[in-house]
Amino acid sequence: MNILILGGGGREHSLAWAAKQNPKCDRLIVAPGNAGIAEIAECAELDIEDGGAVAEFCVENAINFVIIGPEAPLAAGVADRLAEAGVLAFGPSAAAARLEASKAFTKEICDVAGAPTAAWARFTDAEAAKTYIRAQGAPIVVKADGLAAGKGVIVAEDEAGALAAIDEMFSGAFGDAGAEVVVEEFMTGEEASFFVLCDGENLLPIGTAQDHKRVGEGDTGPNTGGMGAYSPAPVLTEAVAARAMDEIIRPTMKVMAERGMPYRGVLYAGLMIENGQPRLVEYNVRFGDPECQVLMMRLGAQALDLMLAAAEGRLGAAQAIWADDHAMTVVMAARGYPGAYEKGSEIRGLERVAEDSRHMVFHAGTAEVAGRVTATGGRVLNVTARGASLAEAQREVYAMVDRIDWPEGFCRRDIGWRAL
Ligand code: AMP
Ligand code: GLY
Repeated sequence: MNILILGGGGREHSLAWAAKQNPKCDRLIVAPGNAGIAEIAECAELDIEDGGAVAEFCVENAINFVIIGPEAPLAAGVADRLAEAGVLAFGPSAAAARLEASKAFTKEICDVAGAPTAAWARFTDAEAAKTYIRAQGAPIVVKADGLAAGKGVIVAEDEAGALAAIDEMFSGAFGDAGAEVVVEEFMTGEEASFFVLCDGENLLPIGTAQDHKRVGEGDTGPNTGGMGAYSPAPVLTEAVAARAMDEIIRPTMKVMAERGMPYRGVLYAGLMIENGQPRLVEYNVRFGDPECQVLMMRLGAQALDLMLAAAEGRLGAAQAIWADDHAMTVVMAARGYPGAYEKGSEIRGLERVAEDSRHMVFHAGTAEVAGRVTATGGRVLNVTARGASLAEAQREVYAMVDRIDWPEGFCRRDIGWRAL
C-alpha cells in the first residue's frame, strides 16, 4: 500500500521508520519530512493543514493510508476532509481533536465521565479569574484554553504569579488560545504518559513513557517540548494502567461516542500518579514527540498494522506484542534552545553511528544542504536505543551521542535518572 505521513519531526521519522519495515508498505511519502526522513522515504511539499490539498494529493498519488502526525492538521479537520474523499486516515476528526484543542472541553467531558482530574473553573473575564485564584490560593495552574504550541500552561507557585499569568493570557500573549482560560488545582505526584489506540469503540493500550520537559540536568531550567524520554514508565504499573483505563480512558471515550464524536486514532493521556491513583493532566490527540520515538522502537513494523486496525475499526481483534525491553531517546538540541538559537550549523559523524532495529538517530529538525546535514530547528536529533534494561538502553544511547560531532548542539546527560 501507498502511505502518506504528515509532519516533519522526530515523531514522523520514527513513524516512517516503523511503517517502512512492514511488508505492507510500498510507496512511502512524508510531507514535509526532513533530511533523515529523506533517507527512507520520499519527501513532498504540501500544506498539511489544508485538508482539501491533502485529499487532492492523496488522489493524485494513489495514497491508501494517511498517518497524521501533529495536532494542528487534526484540529484543522484534515481527517474529516480525508474521510469525505474516501481516503483512509489515522487520526481523530476535528470534533474529537478538541480533547487537545480545548482544555475546557476536555474538563467538561471528564466531569461527565466521572474521570479523576484536577478541580477546575473556566473564565473569559480576568477579574472573575482573579477572584477565583484568590479564593483558592497557590500553588495553582493557569492554562490558555486553546492550542499554544505547548506553551499555554503556567504552574504558579504563588498567588502573584497566578494573577500575572491571568493578565498575560488576557492581554493576548497566547493569541486566540488565551481568549478563554482554565484555572486548575495543582496536582502532586509523578507524571507519566499512557498511549491507547481507539477505533471509535475498541481500545488497545500500546505503551507507556516518561519524558523530561526541563532543559537542564536534574530537571531544572525552562520547559521545552521534551529533552528525552523512555519506555516503559515504571510508575505506570499494570495496576495503575488498568485503573487509568477503567476510570479515565474508557469512560471518556464512551462519552465522546455518546456525543456523536467517536474518537479514532491514538489517545495520549498525560497522567499524574500518586499512591497508585492516576488522575488526568491532559489529553493529546496524537503521539508525543519524543515519546513516539521510544514507542516505535519497541513496536517496530506492527505499529503500521495497529494504526490500520484503529483506522478501519478492527481494534477489537488486534493485539500489541512487544519484547519485554526498554527504549530511550535523547534529544540533541541547538545551543540556546528553548531560547534563541542559531540555525544552519553542520552535523558531522552521523555515518559513524550504526543504525539497526535497536539503534536509530531520528531527525527532528534537519535539512540536507549540498550533501551536508544541517540543523534547522531547536530540537534537532533524537538519538534512540533499546536494551534489555533501561540502564543498558541509556549506555547504548550515550555511546551513540558521543559519536556525533556537533559542537553547536547539546543534550542532557541524565535522561532516565528518575527511573534509574
Ligand atoms: P500540559 O500542557 O497540560 O501538559 O501542561 C504542561 C505541564 O504542566 C504538565 O506536564 C504538568 O507538568 C504541568 N501541569 C499541568 N496541569 C497541572 C496540574 N493541574 N497540576 C500540576 N501540574 C500540572
Ligand atoms: N513531549 C510532549 C508532547 O509531545 O506533547
